[in-house]
Amino acid sequence: MNRRVETAPWWRRGVVYQVYPRSFQDSNGDGIGDLPGVRQRLDYLAWLGVDAVWLSPFYPSPMADFGYDVADYCGVDPIFGTLADFEALVEDAHARGLRVVVDFVPNHTSARHPWFVESRASRQGPRRDWYLWRDPAPGGGPPNNWLAHFGGSAWTLDERTGQYYLHAFLPEQPDLNWRNPDVRAAMHDVLRFWLDRGVDGFRVDVIWHLLKDEQFRDNPPAPDSDPRHGPSRALLPIYTTDQPGVHEIVRGLRRVLDEHARRGDRPAGRRDAPVLIGEIYLPVERLVRYYGERLDECHLPFNFQLLQLPWRADAIRAAIARYEAALPPGAWPNWVLGNHDHHRIATRVGPAQARVAAVLLLTLRGTPTLYCGDEIGLRDIEVPPALVQDPYERSCPGVGLGRDPERAPMPWGGGPGAGFTTGRPWLPRGADAATVNVSTQRDDPASMLALHRRLLALRRAEPALAVGTWAPVPADGDVVAFVRAHEGRRFLVALNLGARLQSLWLGPARGGVVLGTHLDREGEQVFATLVLRGDEAVVAVLE
Ligand code: NOJ
Ligand code: CA
Repeated sequence: MNRRVETAPWWRRGVVYQVYPRSFQDSNGDGIGDLPGVRQRLDYLAWLGVDAVWLSPFYPSPMADFGYDVADYCGVDPIFGTLADFEALVEDAHARGLRVVVDFVPNHTSARHPWFVESRASRQGPRRDWYLWRDPAPGGGPPNNWLAHFGGSAWTLDERTGQYYLHAFLPEQPDLNWRNPDVRAAMHDVLRFWLDRGVDGFRVDVIWHLLKDEQFRDNPPAPDSDPRHGPSRALLPIYTTDQPGVHEIVRGLRRVLDEHARRGDRPAGRRDAPVLIGEIYLPVERLVRYYGERLDECHLPFNFQLLQLPWRADAIRAAIARYEAALPPGAWPNWVLGNHDHHRIATRVGPAQARVAAVLLLTLRGTPTLYCGDEIGLRDIEVPPALVQDPYERSCPGVGLGRDPERAPMPWGGGPGAGFTTGRPWLPRGADAATVNVSTQRDDPASMLALHRRLLALRRAEPALAVGTWAPVPADGDVVAFVRAHEGRRFLVALNLGARLQSLWLGPARGGVVLGTHLDREGEQVFATLVLRGDEAVVAVLE
């Protein structure tokens, strides 16, 4: 590897793998994944070839929103293990060259967090202002028209003190008041707590929500809103999210990370400054502002376009170009194909296109985030009404908004517990778990898992695919094509997003196939016109 690649921080050259701890590996037979379970599977992650593990929340929580309702920011829920288990996990991950990114949930706490318990106890208490309390509207009822993401008003009346508190999500998730300097200081201490335990960064939950309009003005109605996109979409969130002042808060978080690194507080052997990843659902022009005017906010504001766009070549070609053009100078891109809040890629586009999608994710310019299970082509599970767990599904049944389907336990093998648990899994396994599982795919060179492993190895071996430049190759029909280049080495990536034969005019370029979805063209020379079969993607090194 040349010097520039070596000196690029890991979060530019590497691949992030999201672990949803409940669903990754159960170590004690209670049917719920846990930290010792994740630890047992670190060898798998190293074998797979990813660079970092992002752990969704494992903090003490009543689990109203499965851990996104935190009752203690500096602990581990007994369901998931102990702080010692976490420390052992970090140590073992680092020993394998894997970084550990943890989830930070600063917009809201659990209603059972001691801060909220104190806040709601009286209007005069010192922590009252840590949350957003308002009097009822003049004629009674909620203070304004703001809606909660999971349905209903964003305000809940606290009978005892006669005021409403704000919650962008469930009533069990009251929003913190980030205008209060004591809240900021307390949350900065939380970051330091985990930094002192050697974490390599944070994924910040709904970072663009942190500040709300100081005057609490009503949101205007959204024209043409579609209830299938969620009940809160009936209003345009102009006073509830992406407020101008939020950037100062994000800079504050970033400063904590940078200062921690500068002070040399990083445990021995960890040279890179920790990474700040922001969860942000916004159009790209507004999204990229979260890099900061001086690149002093998020290193990686999550780019979720591949989760939201129709799977059509024209839409994806345009989105890549628009995103590349919108990035501020020096900002590093990133791409996400799946997470615990969206239907799985293999369900959205089908198993054959999921292979094409894997090639796209792992060859685009920018840090990829891979969701656990997508590497084996895991599909959404069907959850019968009696087994529904997700509060979103409970509040909006049958609309397809519920997130249980993409949270199924990881099938490591066959059998009733699929190698995930010796007990009864908290969500049912998929109907296809007998074949779609790690142990079956591990030794099958044609499997989705083998494809991922080869793509990850290629990316690691070829800096052009990790940190190289990106340029589009003119294409039409169902084809998306681009060239990645670094220090004289150039790769063509050509993807057919449809089921029919397509061809791509290469002009004077020629090269040799190094990898393809069908795994049968390696070594083939390409020149003049590249023919792609249906659902085929090819990576070729250019002469
Ligand atoms: C985003 C998380 O990814 C999601 O799972 C959660 O429900 C909300 N934020 C609220 O924390
Ligand atoms: Ca367990």
